[in-house]
Amino acid sequence: MCNCSCTGEPALSEKDRRLVELLNKYRTVPGVLIPVLQEAQEIYGYLPAEVLQKVARELQIPLAKVYGVVTFYSQFHLKPRGRNIIRVCLGTACHVRGGDKIFAALQKELAVDDGETTTDLRFTLESVACIGACGLAPVIMINHDTHGRLTPEKLTGILAKYE
Ligand code: FES
Repeated sequence: MCNCSCTGEPALSEKDRRLVELLNKYRTVPGVLIPVLQEAQEIYGYLPAEVLQKVARELQIPLAKVYGVVTFYSQFHLKPRGRNIIRVCLGTACHVRGGDKIFAALQKELAVDDGETTTDLRFTLESVACIGACGLAPVIMINHDTHGRLTPEKLTGILAKYE
């Protein structure tokens, strides 16, 4: 038997503690699944299986329904995401100005495909349609920064700014 003052339960991480708080707040509120999933994803950066199980259990919603919602909406992610999200525009204006070459160069440089994350979790690469900066085509966004009039040669220097 343990003689220390612990409760015998494993200590909760800060993230787990925030999830417990979130679930305590919403446990009795009907129709909160999507906002709870959004906040849980804010906490963890994605939605691990254990978190989905806990959400289902605490909100008394079938786990299959929780997965149904998570897989239906593209805003939810079941795998870890990079610290930096690169969105490469493949809309028409960017496409005609070489957006596909930018995308191919990033795939090669990062050794990932569309929607994938580098093994060091530094970058996630995603292709998107027009991001509303067609005058700067070809354009990428890294997190909230827009980088326009790109050439494949400029990419290495840009990526170096993001840890
Ligand atoms: S098509 Fe790329 S920003 Fe509009």
